[in-house]
Amino acid sequence: MTQKIAVLCSGGGSNLQALIDRVGSGDLPARVEWVVSNNGDALALERARRAGVEAIHLSARTEGSQEAADLRLLSLIRDRGIDVLVLAGYMKMLPAGVLELLPGRVVNIHPSLLPSFGGKGMFGHHVHEAVLARGVQWTGVTIHLVSERYDEGPILRQRVVAVQPGDTPQSLGSRVLAIEHDTLWREVRDLLERIR
Ligand code: GRF
Repeated sequence: MTQKIAVLCSGGGSNLQALIDRVGSGDLPARVEWVVSNNGDALALERARRAGVEAIHLSARTEGSQEAADLRLLSLIRDRGIDVLVLAGYMKMLPAGVLELLPGRVVNIHPSLLPSFGGKGMFGHHVHEAVLARGVQWTGVTIHLVSERYDEGPILRQRVVAVQPGDTPQSLGSRVLAIEHDTLWREVRDLLERIR
């Protein structure tokens, strides 16, 4: 039976797009069952719709309370038989029950070599600014399992990206993002294979 992935996004959704494209090409043998965003204007929702994937704006505002939003997310996972949940630029904390429903099956992508440059405030351009400010010569991409503590779950896969002389947060960020797009689907494919 086709395994199902679901994706949580808050923003542009370029990693979501990379997953959708690999499903389309057959490299990632899975179905994207739904995409949820806490942000109704997220381009990620538009990317999902364009691909014929159910796109759901889900937040305390749409559901009336945070509790109702959490319950709806839990039922979308349970009732739709999700095998793996992917956090691709998701800026909200997960409701507690998600990790119990999907133990070892929730992955996050982070644009640095964790545990460096992770944790509070380390998202988007802040990560690449901190990398350049510190003067490290290597950064990269981390795919890890989500645990109760932000950016601290077991690491599944990493790839390195060299910092180049004259890099700006933008130039570095776009090289890292290109590697993210080529990394996330591989780990999702392998995780689905392991739990099959
Ligand atoms: C990526 O850099 C990802 O690593 C981080 O958030 C960003 C999301 O980008 N968690 P996009 O929405 O997939 O374009």
